[in-house]
Amino acid sequence: MSHLHFGRPLSSGNLLLSLRVAPFFRIAPPAMLAYRHAFHAGNHADVLKHITLMLLLRHMNAKDKPYRYIDTHAGAGGYSLEGQYAQKKGEYEKGIGRLWAREGLPTVVSDYLELVQRFNPDGALTQYPGSPALAQMMLREQDQMRLFEMHPTDHRILTSFMAEAPGVTVYRADGFEGLKGQVPPSSRRALVLMDPSYEGHADYLKVVTSLRAAIERFSTGVYMVWYPQVQKLEAAQLPKRLQALAPKSWLHARLTVQQPDSQGFGLAGSGVFIINPPHTLHAELQALLPVLTETLAQYDGANHLLVQHAV
Ligand SMILES: C[S@@+](CC[C@H](N)C(=O)[O-])C[C@H]1O[C@@H](n2cnc3c(N)ncnc32)[C@H](O)[C@@H]1O
Repeated sequence: MSHLHFGRPLSSGNLLLSLRVAPFFRIAPPAMLAYRHAFHAGNHADVLKHITLMLLLRHMNAKDKPYRYIDTHAGAGGYSLEGQYAQKKGEYEKGIGRLWAREGLPTVVSDYLELVQRFNPDGALTQYPGSPALAQMMLREQDQMRLFEMHPTDHRILTSFMAEAPGVTVYRADGFEGLKGQVPPSSRRALVLMDPSYEGHADYLKVVTSLRAAIERFSTGVYMVWYPQVQKLEAAQLPKRLQALAPKSWLHARLTVQQPDSQGFGLAGSGVFIINPPHTLHAELQALLPVLTETLAQYDGANHLLVQHAV
């Protein structure tokens, strides 16, 4: 994998073409796989998740020793912002769109924007890198990437761009189940992103059981979970449940940008929970979160939370 440029599999032109021609649900998805990340690509939640992921990958890159990046819910890999999905609600306009042309942002945000710019070689914001594309830009030749994606269409797009890249394996399999078979890698260094669609209540429990099994096998891995800030008991309880799994240290960051609607629906914000975070992450997020709160706010009460525990 190249650190500096995309290999053929993630050619942005091909990606765009593929997303344009992919008919919606040509292959009938299994029940509960209605979620398509293309509708949400580049929104406020992606911004928080992907900046945090970039910081974690940067930390992994600080040592030459190889590591394995495991994305249990990989999505399509990258997304067109011009297609019908992203345009439907234009969520990216209140996410990456607000940062894109803004000056005077902290270095961490500029570094993230540089990655998004590399995904848009023509200079205009027309595509957004998903977590696999972002990781591909940062992994080194010695590192490995393991991607799980269950949705038939997203798996097909992901495979067409990523599967032939050196060091990358794509599975059309359940990432909750597949994780335990991926740890520990022989290098005993791994970063896991668990970013489910939380379509049903079951995902909240599966996050906990899947991580518990992985941590029992490999307690020193770095594990990052993304979760939605929605009015559901399971979502509110998830950070506490994850704390109970963390053998040594954890960090929890949450960014709230909008109010739920009058019936309590809607994505108020999102959180990231990291087990075994690098010791530098707290300071980096402490500097970043006020800027994201101000830039991505959709109401006056926008706020953030940052808590960590280390032994
Ligand atoms: C939030 S999206 C992933 C976005 C991606 N991580 C990113 O940041 O670009 C969640 C994805 O998980 C897929 N999915 C749902 N259940 C799954 C499962 N059990 N195993 C693997 N993938 C699953 C969905 O089809 C969807 O594409």
